[in-house]
Amino acid sequence: MKSATIAFDRFNTLQDEQAQERIRAARAELGDRAVLLCHHYQRADVYQHADLTGDSLKLARLASQTDSEFIIFCGVHFMAEVADMLSQPHQIAILPDLAAGCSMADMANLAKVNRCWRELTEVLGNPDERITPVTYINSAADLKAFCGEHGGIVCTSTNAPTIMDWAFAQREKVLFFPDQHLGRWTGFKKGIALEEMLVWDPDLEYGGLTPDQIRKARVLLWKGHCSVHQMFQENHIRRWRMQHPDGLVISHPESNLDVCRNSDYVGSTEYIIKTIKAGASGTRWLVGTELNLVNRLAEEVRPEGKIVEFMAPTVCMCSTMQRIDPQHLAWALENLVEGKVVNRISVPEHEAALARVALERMLAVS
Ligand code: 13P
Ligand code: SF4
Repeated sequence: MKSATIAFDRFNTLQDEQAQERIRAARAELGDRAVLLCHHYQRADVYQHADLTGDSLKLARLASQTDSEFIIFCGVHFMAEVADMLSQPHQIAILPDLAAGCSMADMANLAKVNRCWRELTEVLGNPDERITPVTYINSAADLKAFCGEHGGIVCTSTNAPTIMDWAFAQREKVLFFPDQHLGRWTGFKKGIALEEMLVWDPDLEYGGLTPDQIRKARVLLWKGHCSVHQMFQENHIRRWRMQHPDGLVISHPESNLDVCRNSDYVGSTEYIIKTIKAGASGTRWLVGTELNLVNRLAEEVRPEGKIVEFMAPTVCMCSTMQRIDPQHLAWALENLVEGKVVNRISVPEHEAALARVALERMLAVS
Protein backbone atom coordinates (compact mmCIF):
# COMPACT_ATOMS: atom_id res chain seq x y z
CA MET A 1 0.00 0.00 0.00
CA LYS A 2 1.44 3.34 -1.05
CA SER A 3 -0.37 5.67 1.37
CA ALA A 4 -3.27 6.11 3.82
CA THR A 5 -6.89 6.19 2.62
CA ILE A 6 -7.80 9.60 1.26
CA ALA A 7 -10.58 11.12 3.39
CA PHE A 8 -13.80 12.18 1.67
CA ASP A 9 -13.53 15.65 3.27
CA ARG A 10 -11.02 16.57 0.59
CA PHE A 11 -13.60 15.90 -2.13
CA ASN A 12 -16.72 17.28 -0.50
CA THR A 13 -16.04 20.84 -1.57
CA LEU A 14 -14.79 20.07 -5.08
CA GLN A 15 -16.56 21.96 -7.84
CA ASP A 16 -18.40 19.61 -10.22
CA GLU A 17 -16.03 20.35 -13.10
CA GLN A 18 -12.99 19.61 -10.94
CA ALA A 19 -14.57 16.34 -9.81
CA GLN A 20 -15.23 15.41 -13.45
CA GLU A 21 -11.58 16.06 -14.35
CA ARG A 22 -10.39 13.89 -11.49
CA ILE A 23 -12.76 11.06 -12.41
CA ARG A 24 -11.38 11.08 -15.95
CA ALA A 25 -7.78 11.13 -14.73
CA ALA A 26 -8.31 8.30 -12.21
CA ARG A 27 -10.13 6.19 -14.79
CA ALA A 28 -7.28 6.67 -17.25
CA GLU A 29 -4.84 5.39 -14.61
CA LEU A 30 -6.98 2.42 -13.63
CA GLY A 31 -7.76 1.41 -17.22
CA ASP A 32 -9.43 -2.01 -17.49
CA ARG A 33 -8.94 -2.70 -13.80
CA ALA A 34 -12.16 -0.79 -13.06
CA VAL A 35 -15.55 -1.09 -14.79
CA LEU A 36 -18.31 1.41 -14.08
CA LEU A 37 -21.85 -0.01 -14.01
CA CYS A 38 -24.67 2.54 -13.96
CA HIS A 39 -28.39 2.17 -13.36
CA HIS A 40 -30.68 4.21 -15.64
CA TYR A 41 -31.79 6.48 -12.78
CA GLN A 42 -28.29 7.74 -12.22
CA ARG A 43 -27.79 11.48 -12.52
CA ALA A 44 -26.38 12.76 -15.81
CA ASP A 45 -23.07 13.96 -14.36
CA VAL A 46 -22.30 10.40 -13.24
CA TYR A 47 -24.07 8.49 -16.05
CA GLN A 48 -21.72 10.08 -18.60
CA HIS A 49 -18.86 7.98 -17.14
CA ALA A 50 -20.66 4.62 -17.42
CA ASP A 51 -19.05 1.70 -19.22
CA LEU A 52 -22.23 -0.33 -18.97
CA THR A 53 -25.81 0.69 -18.21
CA GLY A 54 -29.00 -1.24 -17.60
CA ASP A 55 -31.99 -2.17 -15.49
CA SER A 56 -31.55 -4.42 -12.46
CA LEU A 57 -31.68 -7.67 -14.41
CA LYS A 58 -29.26 -6.54 -17.08
CA LEU A 59 -26.84 -5.11 -14.49
CA ALA A 60 -26.98 -8.37 -12.50
CA ARG A 61 -26.04 -10.32 -15.64
CA LEU A 62 -23.32 -7.82 -16.58
CA ALA A 63 -21.84 -8.00 -13.09
CA SER A 64 -21.51 -11.76 -13.48
CA GLN A 65 -19.80 -11.38 -16.86
CA THR A 66 -17.24 -8.61 -16.35
CA ASP A 67 -13.74 -9.59 -15.31
CA SER A 68 -12.42 -6.24 -14.09
CA GLU A 69 -10.86 -6.22 -10.66
CA PHE A 70 -13.10 -3.37 -9.42
CA ILE A 71 -16.83 -3.09 -10.14
CA ILE A 72 -17.78 0.49 -9.38
CA PHE A 73 -21.53 0.38 -8.95
CA CYS A 74 -23.38 3.63 -9.56
CA GLY A 75 -26.78 2.56 -8.33
CA VAL A 76 -28.13 1.61 -4.93
CA HIS A 77 -26.99 -0.75 -2.19
CA PHE A 78 -28.91 -3.91 -3.15
CA MET A 79 -27.57 -3.66 -6.72
CA ALA A 80 -23.97 -3.53 -5.48
CA GLU A 81 -24.71 -6.52 -3.24
CA VAL A 82 -25.93 -8.48 -6.26
CA ALA A 83 -22.79 -7.48 -8.17
CA ASP A 84 -20.68 -8.73 -5.28
CA MET A 85 -22.52 -12.04 -5.04
CA LEU A 86 -22.54 -12.78 -8.77
CA SER A 87 -18.97 -11.72 -9.53
CA GLN A 88 -15.81 -13.79 -9.02
CA PRO A 89 -14.21 -13.95 -5.54
CA HIS A 90 -11.22 -11.85 -6.64
CA GLN A 91 -13.47 -9.00 -7.86
CA ILE A 92 -14.39 -6.12 -5.58
CA ALA A 93 -17.74 -4.30 -5.71
CA ILE A 94 -17.74 -0.66 -4.63
CA LEU A 95 -20.67 1.68 -3.93
CA PRO A 96 -19.26 5.23 -4.03
CA ASP A 97 -21.66 6.42 -1.28
CA LEU A 98 -22.87 3.88 1.27
CA ALA A 99 -25.91 6.03 1.97
CA ALA A 100 -27.30 5.18 -1.47
CA GLY A 101 -29.93 2.71 -0.29
CA CYS A 102 -33.40 1.90 -1.60
CA SER A 103 -36.25 2.99 0.66
CA MET A 104 -38.48 0.25 -0.72
CA ALA A 105 -35.89 -2.45 -0.01
CA ASP A 106 -35.76 -1.17 3.58
CA MET A 107 -39.50 -1.84 4.01
CA ALA A 108 -38.80 -5.55 4.52
CA ASN A 109 -36.20 -7.04 6.83
CA LEU A 110 -35.28 -10.53 7.93
CA ALA A 111 -36.80 -10.24 11.42
CA LYS A 112 -40.18 -9.30 9.95
CA VAL A 113 -40.07 -11.90 7.20
CA ASN A 114 -39.13 -14.59 9.74
CA ARG A 115 -42.06 -13.53 11.91
CA CYS A 116 -44.37 -13.66 8.90
CA TRP A 117 -43.12 -17.18 8.12
CA ARG A 118 -43.74 -18.30 11.75
CA GLU A 119 -47.27 -16.90 11.66
CA LEU A 120 -47.94 -18.59 8.33
CA THR A 121 -46.70 -21.85 9.88
CA GLU A 122 -49.28 -21.50 12.64
CA VAL A 123 -52.09 -21.06 10.12
CA LEU A 124 -51.05 -23.30 7.24
CA GLY A 125 -48.69 -25.84 8.69
CA ASN A 126 -45.25 -26.03 7.08
CA PRO A 127 -45.15 -23.04 4.66
CA ASP A 128 -42.21 -24.66 2.85
CA GLU A 129 -44.83 -26.98 1.35
CA ARG A 130 -47.52 -24.36 0.72
CA ILE A 131 -45.94 -20.99 -0.20
CA THR A 132 -43.13 -19.93 -2.52
CA PRO A 133 -41.36 -16.82 -1.20
CA VAL A 134 -40.49 -14.42 -4.02
CA THR A 135 -38.33 -11.41 -3.30
CA TYR A 136 -38.04 -8.49 -5.68
CA ILE A 137 -34.35 -7.87 -6.41
CA ASN A 138 -34.87 -4.58 -4.53
CA SER A 139 -34.18 -6.27 -1.19
CA ALA A 140 -31.26 -6.96 1.12
CA ALA A 141 -29.05 -10.00 0.58
CA ASP A 142 -30.35 -11.76 3.71
CA LEU A 143 -33.88 -11.76 2.25
CA LYS A 144 -32.57 -13.30 -0.95
CA ALA A 145 -30.87 -15.89 1.28
CA PHE A 146 -34.22 -16.51 3.01
CA CYS A 147 -35.73 -17.28 -0.40
CA GLY A 148 -32.81 -19.52 -1.30
CA GLU A 149 -33.28 -21.45 1.92
CA HIS A 150 -37.05 -21.82 1.60
CA GLY A 151 -37.35 -22.94 -2.01
CA GLY A 152 -37.97 -19.39 -3.22
CA ILE A 153 -36.58 -17.11 -5.88
CA VAL A 154 -35.66 -13.53 -6.79
CA CYS A 155 -37.47 -11.53 -9.49
CA THR A 156 -36.94 -8.22 -11.26
CA SER A 157 -39.38 -5.87 -12.96
CA THR A 158 -38.50 -7.58 -16.26
CA ASN A 159 -39.00 -11.21 -15.34
CA ALA A 160 -41.69 -11.03 -12.61
CA PRO A 161 -44.37 -12.78 -14.78
CA THR A 162 -42.08 -15.73 -15.61
CA ILE A 163 -40.95 -15.95 -12.00
CA MET A 164 -44.53 -15.97 -10.73
CA ASP A 165 -45.30 -18.89 -13.05
CA TRP A 166 -42.26 -20.70 -11.67
CA ALA A 167 -43.36 -19.94 -8.09
CA PHE A 168 -46.86 -21.34 -8.66
CA ALA A 169 -45.40 -24.42 -10.34
CA GLN A 170 -43.64 -25.16 -7.02
CA ARG A 171 -46.43 -24.44 -4.51
CA GLU A 172 -50.03 -23.23 -4.39
CA LYS A 173 -49.38 -19.75 -2.88
CA VAL A 174 -46.87 -16.94 -3.27
CA LEU A 175 -45.48 -14.57 -0.63
CA PHE A 176 -44.22 -11.56 -2.59
CA PHE A 177 -42.00 -8.91 -0.96
CA PRO A 178 -41.24 -6.07 -0.57
CA ASP A 179 -43.18 -4.33 -3.41
CA GLN A 180 -46.91 -4.89 -3.24
CA HIS A 181 -47.45 -3.01 -6.52
CA LEU A 182 -45.16 -5.13 -8.69
CA GLY A 183 -46.68 -8.24 -7.08
CA ARG A 184 -50.26 -7.09 -7.64
CA TRP A 185 -49.69 -6.02 -11.24
CA THR A 186 -47.95 -9.29 -12.04
CA GLY A 187 -50.74 -11.36 -10.44
CA PHE A 188 -53.42 -9.23 -12.12
CA LYS A 189 -51.86 -9.82 -15.55
CA LYS A 190 -51.94 -13.55 -14.81
CA GLY A 191 -55.68 -13.35 -14.20
CA ILE A 192 -55.54 -13.75 -10.42
CA ALA A 193 -58.55 -12.00 -8.86
CA LEU A 194 -57.77 -8.97 -6.71
CA GLU A 195 -59.67 -10.61 -3.80
CA GLU A 196 -57.16 -13.47 -3.93
CA MET A 197 -54.21 -11.09 -3.53
CA LEU A 198 -54.15 -9.74 0.02
CA VAL A 199 -51.81 -7.24 1.60
CA TRP A 200 -49.64 -8.54 4.42
CA ASP A 201 -48.92 -5.71 6.85
CA PRO A 202 -45.71 -6.69 8.64
CA ASP A 203 -46.47 -4.34 11.52
CA LEU A 204 -49.64 -6.22 12.45
CA GLU A 205 -50.05 -9.72 13.89
CA TYR A 206 -50.74 -12.23 11.12
CA GLY A 207 -50.23 -9.38 8.68
CA GLY A 208 -53.59 -7.96 9.77
CA LEU A 209 -55.39 -10.93 8.18
CA THR A 210 -57.70 -13.57 9.60
CA PRO A 211 -56.68 -17.26 9.40
CA ASP A 212 -59.46 -17.77 6.88
CA GLN A 213 -58.19 -14.94 4.67
CA ILE A 214 -54.68 -16.41 4.80
CA ARG A 215 -55.96 -19.86 3.85
CA LYS A 216 -57.94 -18.50 0.89
CA ALA A 217 -55.32 -16.05 -0.47
CA ARG A 218 -53.23 -17.08 -3.46
CA VAL A 219 -50.79 -14.19 -3.26
CA LEU A 220 -49.72 -12.39 -0.08
CA LEU A 221 -48.39 -8.96 -0.97
CA TRP A 222 -45.95 -7.40 1.47
CA LYS A 223 -46.98 -3.87 2.41
CA GLY A 224 -44.08 -2.06 0.75
CA HIS A 225 -43.81 0.47 -2.06
CA CYS A 226 -41.50 2.82 -3.91
CA SER A 227 -42.17 6.40 -2.88
CA VAL A 228 -40.97 7.71 -6.26
CA HIS A 229 -43.48 5.63 -8.23
CA GLN A 230 -46.34 6.36 -5.82
CA MET A 231 -46.29 9.92 -7.11
CA PHE A 232 -47.84 8.79 -10.39
CA GLN A 233 -51.63 8.76 -10.40
CA GLU A 234 -54.33 7.65 -12.79
CA ASN A 235 -55.70 11.21 -13.02
CA HIS A 236 -52.35 12.40 -14.45
CA ILE A 237 -52.89 9.96 -17.31
CA ARG A 238 -56.55 10.88 -17.76
CA ARG A 239 -55.84 14.62 -18.01
CA TRP A 240 -52.92 14.09 -20.39
CA ARG A 241 -54.95 11.82 -22.68
CA MET A 242 -57.64 14.53 -22.95
CA GLN A 243 -54.99 16.90 -24.31
CA HIS A 244 -53.14 14.27 -26.37
CA PRO A 245 -55.62 11.60 -27.51
CA ASP A 246 -53.02 10.00 -29.79
CA GLY A 247 -50.30 9.99 -27.14
CA LEU A 248 -48.84 6.83 -25.64
CA VAL A 249 -48.41 6.11 -21.93
CA ILE A 250 -45.67 3.90 -20.53
CA SER A 251 -45.05 3.11 -16.86
CA HIS A 252 -42.83 1.15 -14.54
CA PRO A 253 -44.65 -1.69 -12.71
CA GLU A 254 -43.74 -0.22 -9.30
CA SER A 255 -46.54 2.25 -10.07
CA ASN A 256 -49.97 1.51 -8.61
CA LEU A 257 -52.45 -0.81 -10.32
CA ASP A 258 -54.64 2.00 -11.70
CA VAL A 259 -51.62 3.64 -13.35
CA CYS A 260 -50.47 0.32 -14.84
CA ARG A 261 -53.97 -0.58 -16.05
CA ASN A 262 -54.32 2.77 -17.80
CA SER A 263 -50.90 2.67 -19.45
CA ASP A 264 -50.36 1.42 -22.99
CA TYR A 265 -47.11 -0.25 -21.98
CA VAL A 266 -45.71 -1.36 -18.61
CA GLY A 267 -42.16 -2.59 -18.04
CA SER A 268 -38.70 -2.17 -16.60
CA THR A 269 -36.48 0.87 -17.08
CA GLU A 270 -34.64 -0.87 -19.93
CA TYR A 271 -37.98 -1.79 -21.55
CA ILE A 272 -39.20 1.81 -21.28
CA ILE A 273 -36.07 3.12 -22.99
CA LYS A 274 -36.14 0.49 -25.74
CA THR A 275 -39.87 0.93 -26.41
CA ILE A 276 -39.66 4.69 -26.80
CA LYS A 277 -36.50 4.52 -28.90
CA ALA A 278 -38.21 2.00 -31.18
CA GLY A 279 -41.37 4.17 -31.40
CA ALA A 280 -42.26 5.97 -34.62
CA SER A 281 -40.95 9.47 -35.16
CA GLY A 282 -43.44 12.14 -34.23
CA THR A 283 -44.90 10.10 -31.34
CA ARG A 284 -45.66 11.68 -27.97
CA TRP A 285 -45.10 9.78 -24.72
CA LEU A 286 -46.08 10.15 -21.09
CA VAL A 287 -43.66 8.26 -18.87
CA GLY A 288 -44.19 7.03 -15.30
CA THR A 289 -40.72 6.44 -13.93
CA GLU A 290 -37.85 8.35 -12.35
CA LEU A 291 -37.04 11.84 -13.63
CA ASN A 292 -33.34 11.46 -14.53
CA LEU A 293 -34.21 8.63 -16.91
CA VAL A 294 -37.12 10.56 -18.42
CA ASN A 295 -35.10 13.77 -18.93
CA ARG A 296 -32.22 11.89 -20.57
CA LEU A 297 -34.54 9.96 -22.84
CA ALA A 298 -36.45 13.11 -23.82
CA GLU A 299 -33.17 14.70 -24.96
CA GLU A 300 -32.07 11.60 -26.85
CA VAL A 301 -35.24 11.14 -28.90
CA ARG A 302 -36.03 14.81 -29.50
CA PRO A 303 -33.99 14.90 -32.76
CA GLU A 304 -36.33 12.17 -34.11
CA GLY A 305 -39.30 14.39 -33.44
CA LYS A 306 -40.49 12.37 -30.44
CA ILE A 307 -41.82 14.15 -27.39
CA VAL A 308 -41.33 12.56 -23.98
CA GLU A 309 -43.10 13.96 -20.93
CA PHE A 310 -42.91 13.14 -17.23
CA MET A 311 -46.08 11.80 -15.61
CA ALA A 312 -46.13 13.64 -12.28
CA PRO A 313 -46.53 17.42 -11.87
CA THR A 314 -43.92 17.38 -9.07
CA VAL A 315 -40.22 16.55 -9.28
CA CYS A 316 -39.64 12.95 -8.21
CA MET A 317 -36.18 11.56 -8.32
CA CYS A 318 -34.72 8.58 -6.56
CA SER A 319 -33.11 10.69 -3.84
CA THR A 320 -30.93 7.86 -2.59
CA MET A 321 -29.50 7.11 -6.02
CA GLN A 322 -28.75 10.85 -6.35
CA ARG A 323 -26.24 10.44 -3.56
CA ILE A 324 -23.77 8.92 -5.99
CA ASP A 325 -22.39 12.22 -7.18
CA PRO A 326 -19.17 13.12 -9.03
CA GLN A 327 -17.46 13.96 -5.72
CA HIS A 328 -18.03 10.48 -4.27
CA LEU A 329 -17.12 8.82 -7.54
CA ALA A 330 -13.85 10.78 -7.78
CA TRP A 331 -13.07 9.92 -4.15
CA ALA A 332 -13.64 6.17 -4.61
CA LEU A 333 -11.59 6.09 -7.83
CA GLU A 334 -8.66 8.12 -6.51
CA ASN A 335 -8.41 5.82 -3.52
CA LEU A 336 -8.17 2.86 -5.90
CA VAL A 337 -5.38 4.61 -7.76
CA GLU A 338 -3.62 4.91 -4.38
CA GLY A 339 -4.15 1.20 -3.77
CA LYS A 340 -6.95 1.72 -1.22
CA VAL A 341 -10.44 0.27 -1.41
CA VAL A 342 -13.19 2.41 0.11
CA ASN A 343 -16.88 1.49 0.40
CA ARG A 344 -16.47 -2.14 -0.51
CA ILE A 345 -19.76 -4.05 -0.55
CA SER A 346 -19.10 -7.56 0.66
CA VAL A 347 -21.93 -9.93 1.56
CA PRO A 348 -20.87 -12.52 4.17
CA GLU A 349 -20.32 -15.87 2.46
CA HIS A 350 -22.83 -17.84 4.55
CA GLU A 351 -25.52 -15.38 3.40
CA ALA A 352 -24.23 -15.02 -0.15
CA ALA A 353 -24.23 -18.78 -0.74
CA LEU A 354 -27.97 -19.04 -0.02
CA ALA A 355 -28.80 -15.78 -1.78
CA ARG A 356 -26.98 -17.07 -4.87
CA VAL A 357 -29.29 -20.09 -4.89
CA ALA A 358 -32.29 -17.77 -5.28
CA LEU A 359 -30.50 -15.50 -7.78
CA GLU A 360 -29.29 -18.39 -9.90
CA ARG A 361 -32.78 -19.89 -9.96
CA MET A 362 -33.93 -16.55 -11.35
CA LEU A 363 -31.16 -16.34 -13.95
CA ALA A 364 -31.88 -19.92 -15.05
CA VAL A 365 -35.63 -19.31 -15.42
CA SER A 366 -35.54 -15.88 -17.09
P1 13P B 1 -35.47 -1.70 -13.05
O1 13P B 1 -35.00 -3.09 -12.76
O2 13P B 1 -36.66 -1.68 -13.95
O3 13P B 1 -34.36 -0.85 -13.54
O4 13P B 1 -36.03 -1.08 -11.71
C1 13P B 1 -35.24 -0.84 -10.62
C2 13P B 1 -35.85 0.12 -9.72
O5 13P B 1 -35.43 0.27 -8.61
C3 13P B 1 -36.98 0.87 -10.18
O6 13P B 1 -37.39 1.76 -9.20
FE1 SF4 C 1 -35.73 2.00 -4.67
FE2 SF4 C 1 -37.73 3.47 -5.64
FE3 SF4 C 1 -35.21 4.31 -5.86
FE4 SF4 C 1 -36.08 2.24 -7.32
S1 SF4 C 1 -36.77 4.39 -7.45
S2 SF4 C 1 -34.13 2.37 -6.21
S3 SF4 C 1 -37.48 1.27 -5.84
S4 SF4 C 1 -36.39 4.02 -3.96
